[in-house]
Amino acid sequence: MNAKAVVAKFEELFNKEPMVSRAPGRVNIIGEHTDYNDGFVLPASIDKEMVFALALNGTDTVNAYALDLEESGSFELSNIVPSEGWINYIKGVVAETAVKGLEPKGFDVVFAGDVPLGAGMSSSAALECALATGLNKLFEGDLSKLDIVLASQMSEHNYAGVKCGIMDQFASTFGQANKVIKLDCRTKEYEYHNLDITGHKLVLCNTNVTHSLASSEYNTRREQCEAGVEVIKETYPEIINLRDVSVEMMHEFEGKMDPVIYDRCSYVVEENDRLTKACEFMDNGDLVNLGKMIYGSHEGLSKKYAVSCPELDFLVEQTLEDDNVLGARMMGGGFGGCTINLVKEEAVDAFVERMTKAYKEGMGKDLSAYVVVIGDGARVEESVEA
Ligand code: GLA
Repeated sequence: MNAKAVVAKFEELFNKEPMVSRAPGRVNIIGEHTDYNDGFVLPASIDKEMVFALALNGTDTVNAYALDLEESGSFELSNIVPSEGWINYIKGVVAETAVKGLEPKGFDVVFAGDVPLGAGMSSSAALECALATGLNKLFEGDLSKLDIVLASQMSEHNYAGVKCGIMDQFASTFGQANKVIKLDCRTKEYEYHNLDITGHKLVLCNTNVTHSLASSEYNTRREQCEAGVEVIKETYPEIINLRDVSVEMMHEFEGKMDPVIYDRCSYVVEENDRLTKACEFMDNGDLVNLGKMIYGSHEGLSKKYAVSCPELDFLVEQTLEDDNVLGARMMGGGFGGCTINLVKEEAVDAFVERMTKAYKEGMGKDLSAYVVVIGDGARVEESVEA
């Protein structure tokens, strides 16, 4: 995203030159709802970002302006309490980076972004990581990238109220152009893999809906996974969480735990298994089998984990008979947002046209589509001219 408008607004409002920080949204090839179960994920940062212009102001106040909304807000550093709206995200990052060791000072900030909101592309992680990266520089801190990730994740937990895993903030901070990240969410060890999909593109189809269940059901899924682990532990005390459970071990518990809990847990165990296979297929250029793993992920998310919705299921169903689509699934937390589709390159335009028409006719709604471009992760720019 071009930072000029953000810098120009900053100079107009605050009459000084800012530094600029930015961080992107993300896609996830496969590995959904596995991060908070200490499993694996396969995300990549994209070319849609949140951009911040910021400078110290010599006071104890934070003055913020959300350019896209044309709204301002401020708060005192001495009294940071969670509230509503976008200012809550700013508060969260200031408070949680302080917990990690940054010494907060008053500052002025203007921000804007082009990550679609509520689309499952992690606009909130982009916001948090862009600001945390900027504050680390502005306050002359020495937070590591992992500290920035963890502070951003905690601001989502303690201020936005969603007990999210680490994937979104990790991808936003550690992303690299043209690479996907295979992250072990337990050890935080990660590898960059080339997205080897020559002749194909990843296309996002945005349902343009966000169902209100999203955050409450997310936290419920977390609790259901923990409940399943408690049952498994009675037989296998060495298990710490679902990451340690194999597909075979999980089968032993069919009929021996609440069926809903069983479905939730077996989805997670199978998704970790699919991810490992999908990553190998991707590395070997076996896109047909990669696509099968992606379809398998959707099936599990929809039927066992129950985080899909009619709009997402409709969009995936529309691809099943299309030879130009190798795989499709809902992406992110669920209950709205996007599907991610692996589509033959020469068929992308026709695919988008057909999906747009089908969605309008079948669901009465407008589709937005994006061809994924993988860009760099969070960074600071010393000066950008307005
Ligand atoms: C949201 C959360 C992530 C992850 C995904 C589901 O995006 O922020 O931590 O759990 O949902 O994979």
